[in-house]
Amino acid sequence: MGDLGEGLSHYHKQGFCSFHTPGHKGRQEFFNGFDFVSFDLTELPGLDMLHSPRGIISKALKKAAEIFGAEETFFLINGGTVGNQAMFLALNDVVDKRVVVERNSHRSVMSGLVLSGLKPEYVMPIVHPDFNLPLGFNLEQQRISWQEISACHVTYPSYYGTAFDLSGLVVERTNSGFDTPILVDQAHGSHYLSELFPPSALKLGADLVLNSCHKTLSALTQSAMLHVQGSRVSRTRLKQSLEILQSSSPSYLLISSLERAGEFALELWRWECLKEEVDDLYRKVGTCFRILSSKDVGTFGIHAVDWSKILINTSPLGVSAPRCVEYLREDFGIEPELWDGDNILFMLGIGTTPEDVRWLTKGLESLRDIAPSIRFPESKKPQERLRKLIPPLPHPVLSPREAFFARKRKIPLKESLGHIVGETISLYPPGIPAVVMGEEITHEVLSMLLSSKEGHWQGWDGFESQTIWIVEGE
Ligand SMILES: Cc1ncc(COP(=O)(O)O)c(C=O)c1O
Repeated sequence: MGDLGEGLSHYHKQGFCSFHTPGHKGRQEFFNGFDFVSFDLTELPGLDMLHSPRGIISKALKKAAEIFGAEETFFLINGGTVGNQAMFLALNDVVDKRVVVERNSHRSVMSGLVLSGLKPEYVMPIVHPDFNLPLGFNLEQQRISWQEISACHVTYPSYYGTAFDLSGLVVERTNSGFDTPILVDQAHGSHYLSELFPPSALKLGADLVLNSCHKTLSALTQSAMLHVQGSRVSRTRLKQSLEILQSSSPSYLLISSLERAGEFALELWRWECLKEEVDDLYRKVGTCFRILSSKDVGTFGIHAVDWSKILINTSPLGVSAPRCVEYLREDFGIEPELWDGDNILFMLGIGTTPEDVRWLTKGLESLRDIAPSIRFPESKKPQERLRKLIPPLPHPVLSPREAFFARKRKIPLKESLGHIVGETISLYPPGIPAVVMGEEITHEVLSMLLSSKEGHWQGWDGFESQTIWIVEGE
């Protein structure tokens, strides 16, 4: 076995309790009868074709559309990423128009802007003061000029499981009298198929909806679905876009795992028994941590909360999140989805068992009990570690596509004020761009970049050398 195989095998042997993607959590029961070697086939007689399905793939797609409530469904084999990109490529009324995009969208949305050439009209998120994270789409403070945009792209739910008032957005569109498509990145809400969870974006009237089915359902990593209803977006353009973006040798392992994921998604009992355990977790440790819960509904743009994502702020305990993660990993073998200085996100999936949640509760109780011995020193109090996440929007000089293809050079960061940036730089987590390629470097952006000490940046090639790519010949 090579290094990669050794690494995977070594990781697996440690037997971590998974609170991260994929949603199947490594449970064999989702793959009984699924023969990985003999199912790894290509488009052979009788096996249909992903890009022009007429046989067994077509049947599986129709069934998936029925399960998820779509008029038509496409299987994606390059994750939700390709779904966001295809949504933008499929738009046709784009001349002189912008597309509404949340500033904190996933980077596949930003790459969709590069591929399509669309110009963004950014919506700033509401940053929740307790968590210092972008938890809500800013529907109240954002006036959308429907006549000036070719589409409105939103993320529902957020990574952290908060859902904004999407139905309010759909109503606003209807009242505007414009037929602008609403495109929804529901990557983290593929399991919204019952009253246990917020309503699905399709139910609320969205036109295109993306589900990363590997995140919370049982599909293999990298498999996702794109659902369509109505005629606001051309299905022909959508098919053509997916044909450009997806492999001509689609993995049958991925697409047949999607078929199965749809079937398992209907087994609601798998979630019902987890809900009780999560309620018990809130009861037992809810007072020693700040946990996002249904009590937060109605505040900071939060319209609903998905309880299957457990977001915990560790500040009330007086212990930093990384220290808590270290303790939970080492003493309880618990592996979360992600964390920053103060927050930890634990993600449940369809493969999570009640025992897993009980184990997490036990780990958190133990953490509470030992907290006095691992508290951070006075000098590192949480309020002092709060970061300013989003600088004011810099002026866009070029579109992301123009900037991507422009000639660039690297200069020292401290000399970059006023230049057009040639790379998109985001603080991760949560991944909000401080500056997007094509924008001018402002005082605020520069001081944010200059003052950053940790290397938690995405897309910044020159963090170590304190250099930055700028567009040449501005
Ligand atoms: C909100 C959001 N959208 C889209 C994606 C991309 O999905 P995938 O990882 O399936 O490509 C992610 C991935 O983390 C995401 O968080």
